[in-house]
Amino acid sequence: MKNKFYITTPLYYVNSPPHIGHSYTTVAADTLARFHRNMGDEVYFLTGSDEHGQKIAKAAASAGLSEKAFTDNMVSIFIGLWKSLDISYDDFIRTTDKRHSAAVELVLTILHKNKDIYMDTYEGWYCTPCETFWTDMQVSQDCCPDCRRALERIREDNYFFRLSYYQQWLIEHIQSHPDFIRPVSRYNEVLSFLTTNTLTDLCISRPKSRLKWGIEIPFSTGHVTYVWFDALINYISAVGFGYDEAKFKKYWPADLHLIGKDILRQHAIYWPIILKALGLSLPKMIFAHGWWMVGKDKMSKSRGNVIDPLRLVDAYGVDTYRYFLLRDVPFGLDGTFSNEAIIKRKNSDLANDWGNLTHRTATMVEKYFSGKLPEQGSIKENQLKRDNDNLEAQLRKALEAVDFTAGLDALWLVISEANKFIEDTKPWNLLKENKTEELNSFIMLLVSVIRNVSRALTNFMPQSAKSISEQFASNIIKKGVPLFPRIEVK
Ligand code: MSP
Repeated sequence: MKNKFYITTPLYYVNSPPHIGHSYTTVAADTLARFHRNMGDEVYFLTGSDEHGQKIAKAAASAGLSEKAFTDNMVSIFIGLWKSLDISYDDFIRTTDKRHSAAVELVLTILHKNKDIYMDTYEGWYCTPCETFWTDMQVSQDCCPDCRRALERIREDNYFFRLSYYQQWLIEHIQSHPDFIRPVSRYNEVLSFLTTNTLTDLCISRPKSRLKWGIEIPFSTGHVTYVWFDALINYISAVGFGYDEAKFKKYWPADLHLIGKDILRQHAIYWPIILKALGLSLPKMIFAHGWWMVGKDKMSKSRGNVIDPLRLVDAYGVDTYRYFLLRDVPFGLDGTFSNEAIIKRKNSDLANDWGNLTHRTATMVEKYFSGKLPEQGSIKENQLKRDNDNLEAQLRKALEAVDFTAGLDALWLVISEANKFIEDTKPWNLLKENKTEELNSFIMLLVSVIRNVSRALTNFMPQSAKSISEQFASNIIKKGVPLFPRIEVK
């Protein structure tokens, strides 16, 4: 039987167009989705848009549009970017979809009936841009501990979700599932937060007098649902919760929620507790990656330092962009974006190493074999052959551990060994000395390496890998045009 692999990205806020940070999570998820599909798994790759809440309502108002018209337009911009980045998602969920709002209403009804949701008066601080409540203890200098902008003091009747009741259970779940939160630094962060703080119940509604743009609370005419409570439910509403039992049974629980570290608490604390209260299983893994920074700041719309991924795709090509994102920074750590860094990756790893290997090999097939590969001679045991034979296993191990760096390291080790193998073997001498057997075996090892590496690279760089795979697929090989032309820097 086929394995299923259900992978998700966060639902991005569509208050403004996407930047490098959003594309990072999505490209990473796409690479894993492609890898699992290539392994024969039945993949469900979900992404989408988070459309409710004050942030969106404000953005729509300042654009002079209705929320619906504003989000429709923004969603088309996100979808356009995903197309340009070759994102192979299976489903795009909008929190304004009927399937989603129906599921949210069902969740609210169940939790209310079970008394996990109750009404109370809330008094405290509220950060509108972050849509987050803060207690007196968390706040200093009247500004938001996260974004440092001004807070509002509010007092209102709201619905609360009983987080606190489940705290001990969550601690035990995390302790008994070491892979539940990754990388280990984030695992430790969540566990230490939970063991040193007492959770307060989560306010999950907003009075309509303050905010109308949200999913109505089914048991109150005066409230809409808090945007985070609404959004998290997408992970089950997309796969049939409440309307398609067979689909839900097939895909839930998710195998991997890929997120940035900024939204770890919502995913590693609120979400598991919501699921527990519903009697549903928990996702197998939540992986929180680091941030793209510009200088010392996180790249974000509110800091005004965002870079449009489409500009980079135009300048460097989509595959170079995808490769750069996953190669330049160990997945899990923060990274700094610069044009110099992406140019360096393109020139050295792609043009010099990989591009050169394929180009030199095709040229040799033309020159020494008139474009036709010889019969497979026996290939002598050597380090390159061993590493090439191990490549698939290495890549599998790395990507199953969400370690793009280790996966690409393994590929580039073989690529550089192959380049060195050409220099050490000196094929022109083999030809001169009529060592046909050796020359055959030499070229066949290189071709095997290229076939292997390009197959592996279809996960990372689908377009160029496909074209190299096709170039080297049959026994007749033609010299192509270089896929990664060097960028000359003045
Ligand atoms: N709508 C919520 C998520 C709801 S999920 C049920 C949200 N949206 S967001 O548009 O702000 O996107 C946050 C996510 O975008 C991060 O978790 C991360 O995946 C990505 N990134 C946004 N800025 C980023 C960086 N500067 N660097 C890396 N990724 C970042 O939060």
